[in-house]
Amino acid sequence: MSQSRQASPASTDPAEELRLSLEREPPQIPSKYFYDRRGCELFEAITHTPEYYQTRTELAMLTEHADALLATTAPRDLAELGSGSGRKTRVLLDALVRSGRGRACTLMDIAPDFLEPSVRELQAAYPSLDVRGVVGDFVHELHRLGPGGERMLVLLAGTFGNLDRIAALDFLRSIRAALAEDDAFLIGVDLVKDPARLEAAYDDAQGVTAAFNLNVLDVVNARFGADFDTADFRHRAVYDVERARIEMRLRAVRPVRVTVAATGTRLSLAEGEELLTELSCKYTRESLDAMAGRADLAMARWVTDPDQLFGLALLRPRGDRR
Ligand code: SAH
Ligand code: AVI
Repeated sequence: MSQSRQASPASTDPAEELRLSLEREPPQIPSKYFYDRRGCELFEAITHTPEYYQTRTELAMLTEHADALLATTAPRDLAELGSGSGRKTRVLLDALVRSGRGRACTLMDIAPDFLEPSVRELQAAYPSLDVRGVVGDFVHELHRLGPGGERMLVLLAGTFGNLDRIAALDFLRSIRAALAEDDAFLIGVDLVKDPARLEAAYDDAQGVTAAFNLNVLDVVNARFGADFDTADFRHRAVYDVERARIEMRLRAVRPVRVTVAATGTRLSLAEGEELLTELSCKYTRESLDAMAGRADLAMARWVTDPDQLFGLALLRPRGDRR
């Protein structure tokens, strides 16, 4: 499996990126740092909470529509970004094998703790396919997937929503550049809905999401020599209706001073001040379509569930009428 450094929209140097993020107002921690071993386990636990409808909804939609989605462009290869545990990948690979055209599957994830076991398990489960893993950042390293052609790129779970809208458009443009004319991009987005339902999904009663959020401080401590104390912070999830996004924050419960050795940062927070740890932007069919159009992509298919909780879009290079 190929390895690479993590990178970010702001800088390809992780320490520099973290320094710039912590200097923002409010201070931020890039959400890709959630996914150390414990973060991966906690994310999986979140997907089983009653409040977090996204995973079960998207899984059901994929199970129902995978054959039709694949039939639209008849790919031979799949390349999934942010593949995580690979649970949904299996549904797509079953359809790929059923199509009789399957050749290869590449998984790119920033978290080796998610990627390595899932590549091993998928290769064993799909011996007719060439399964490959790339530890890397899909924002900067799409080129590491290799050239397209008869390929479907995939980004599920609403992970696209973890990019702010400017980064999301840049990302769609880089996806467009990576697509051959007969390729497609399958993207899952969480849909705009009742704020109370959204806030509950990001603040479950068992406190799993709170633990996931606080864990990012331990990751930053281990990776960048910081001295955050998780006891100094409380998890918050707030839906911003105007910007159609959940903001996960960590609120200082007392005055806090933190030093980050790797970045030379000294951070002082008053009681009640917050760190921003994750954005989760919510889309409508129209808002996604408009953004895709600006990236020269057209929505070839749109699928949603009966309760309109989640959407799956198949995007293709614009102008292709096949
Ligand atoms: N697709 C899986 C996992 C979603 S969790 C599912 O549907 O359940 C989000 C995944 O994206 C995690 O595995 C995380 O490690 C990965 N990820 C987040 N930011 C990333 C980035 N910039 N580059 C590559 N992987 C990223
Ligand atoms: C990975 N991503 C789509 C999740 C989300 O819903 O934004 C991460 C997450 N954060 C809190 N709960 C789940």
